[in-house]
Amino acid sequence: MRRAMLAGNWKMFKNAREVDAFADDFIPLIETVHDRDILICPACIYIQRLIEAFRESPAKVGAQNVYWEDAGAYTGEISAPMLKSIGAQYAIIGHSERREYFNETNASVNKKILAVLKHGLNPIVCIGETLEERESQKAFDVIGLQIREGLTGLGIDLLQEIVIAYEPVWAIGTGKTATPDIAQEVHHYIRDVLAELFDNEYAQTIRILYGGSVKPENIDILMAQPDIDGALVGGASLDTKTFERIVKFQ
Ligand code: 13P
Repeated sequence: MRRAMLAGNWKMFKNAREVDAFADDFIPLIETVHDRDILICPACIYIQRLIEAFRESPAKVGAQNVYWEDAGAYTGEISAPMLKSIGAQYAIIGHSERREYFNETNASVNKKILAVLKHGLNPIVCIGETLEERESQKAFDVIGLQIREGLTGLGIDLLQEIVIAYEPVWAIGTGKTATPDIAQEVHHYIRDVLAELFDNEYAQTIRILYGGSVKPENIDILMAQPDIDGALVGGASLDTKTFERIVKFQ
């Protein structure tokens, strides 16, 4: 069985005081939740602080981005060994906002995935189509290519270390969630592509999260879909009570 994962992507929100206040309020709310993975990905300057705050808590901490080189003259970048050295466990890779505003491509996503796996971190690989691509019936082609190019060179032995997040771009921050049927259809397709590229048995073990306007009102129905294993949550992960409800989906 695939273990559920509820991950918060805080994007470029919260100052240090707000990060501390979140941790203080959130820790007691989830201290007995051990049957699913809870993850927060804050801005990189708060990763260490949050890891320390969550030390006795089931919640884990990840990065929102990472560079593919281990070290070097790359001003402003953060490497996988750096993340590993402070105890981070996951790194979001290829978020649509990074693809749109920071020129990330399937090729750069691929380099980043291979780099984090080499250092024992788990990538959360984001894929998803734009509204224009969906309306012109290209969604499945785009998603198929994102998987094929993004996972090039990945050995089957490391496949289980990755998490995929399907985030339709038209659903991010818009209040428009993909219907559970649309999300399920795409998640099933992603598993089919993975089965074709690797092996069906492995494809069944990979966790595929849904992201895009996930809220307390829609988490239960999304999680009831057979191929949805969790959620990557933006706005609704910024508030402790709201995110608690999502973590405690029924
Ligand atoms: P929202 O939940 O704010 O739509 O953001 C989704 C997202 O981009 C998570 O990575």
